[in-house]
This record gives sequence, C-alpha cells and structure tokens, in this order.
Amino acid sequence: MAGNGDSAAEFLPDRLSLAGLRRAAADCRGCPLYRNATQTVFGEGLKRSRLMLVGEIPGDREDRAGKPFVGPAGRLLDESLVEAGVDRDEAYVTNAVKHFKWEARGWRRLHSKPSAREIKACRPWLDAEIEVVEPEVIVALGATAAKALIGSDFRVTRQRGELIESELAPHLTATVHPSSILRNPDADARRAAREEFVEDLRVVAAVLNDGS
Ligand code: URA
Ligand code: SF4
Repeated sequence: MAGNGDSAAEFLPDRLSLAGLRRAAADCRGCPLYRNATQTVFGEGLKRSRLMLVGEIPGDREDRAGKPFVGPAGRLLDESLVEAGVDRDEAYVTNAVKHFKWEARGWRRLHSKPSAREIKACRPWLDAEIEVVEPEVIVALGATAAKALIGSDFRVTRQRGELIESELAPHLTATVHPSSILRNPDADARRAAREEFVEDLRVVAAVLNDGS
C-alpha cells in the first residue's frame, strides 16, 4: 500500500491530536489533489466542540486562506448558524476532502466535485477528526458529505433535518450545501431555500440546547 497514492491512511500520525493531525495533513499525498492546490485545508475548531459541520471540498477562497468555509458559502453558513441560534465558535468545521479541486476557465479556477475515489482516499482525516473531537452532533452539508457519513442511499432532498443515530456520533443529520442555496438564480427561491436551511440548523440548536 505504502506510497501508491490511494489513501491518506499512511500519512496519519500514530498519536491523534488536532495539532498533530493538522501538521501531518499538510504533507498528505494520499491522492493526486495536493498537486494542484495551494495547501491542505484542514478542519478548524476546538478539540471538544459539541458540533461538527462537514462540507464537501474547499473552494478557491478556502484554498488561498487555508481555512474551511471562509468564502461566500462560509458567510451564508455563519449567518444561518447565528439565525438558528448556533455559535460557529462552538462548532468544528471541516470538509470530506481537504484539497481544492479545480479546472482552468481562462484565468479563473473553477471548482470541481471530488470523485468517489478522492472522497475515500481522504476519509482517514475525517475519521481522525471525529475521533479526536467526539462531537455530539455531526451535520453533513450537502449530498457528498451525507453519502460519506450516512450512506449511499441517503437522500438529502427527502431526509434533510432528520436526526439519525450513528456510530460516528450520538446525533447525525444532513442538510443542503450552502453553495446550492447561493447557486439558485431566483431571489425568492434563494430566500426560501435559506429559510429551510436555517430550519434544519434549528433542529441542531435544539439538540445542543437540550443537552446542556
Ligand atoms: N464549500 C465546501 O464544501 N467547503 C468549503 O470549505 C467551502 C465551500
Ligand atoms: Fe490527502 Fe485528502 Fe489532499 Fe488527497 S485531498 S492529498 S487524501 S489531504
């Protein structure tokens, strides 16, 4: 297995800590995505965060900043969390895949979706983050994260906001990806989609407030 470039597993440190994981992930070559990206975008948040938010893959802004959800999708996420009554500072925020994937469109770097193989290759980082943080609630943002965390038959459109018991955390749920809301060309539809997103996050706020 070693060195064949199909998994992050061989790059994981022996002892798991967030600082150690972050350092090790910076040098990950578990799949080809590190080649065209600026840097690894590792998860961010406190070790004992009660909530973990899992996105898909960093975008252009995240690639430059080295931090997850700092671009337009991140702004929408922040605002929606505030509206739902969840403090982003209390959440650990990460992605299913840790390197930006893109295609050139003239001078622009157009975001592409990760392949099933890349998601699988990067999975050891996410599992290690879950092991260290031990969140009470995990929220998958979008179908990619939902399929990875819940299963391939999970349908975000039908099952969003449902709380699921899981080996990964006492509560697991999924909702749409904030980017999907931003892509909606119609302002009214965008507003409605955003309100539904906040509703899903209110379910999460209720669980967190219940347990405190
Ligand atoms: N979209 C994601 O899935 N993750 C990010 O970090 C930013 C945008
Ligand atoms: Fe490693 Fe994940 Fe980056 Fe691939 S995307 S090189 S598995 S950190």
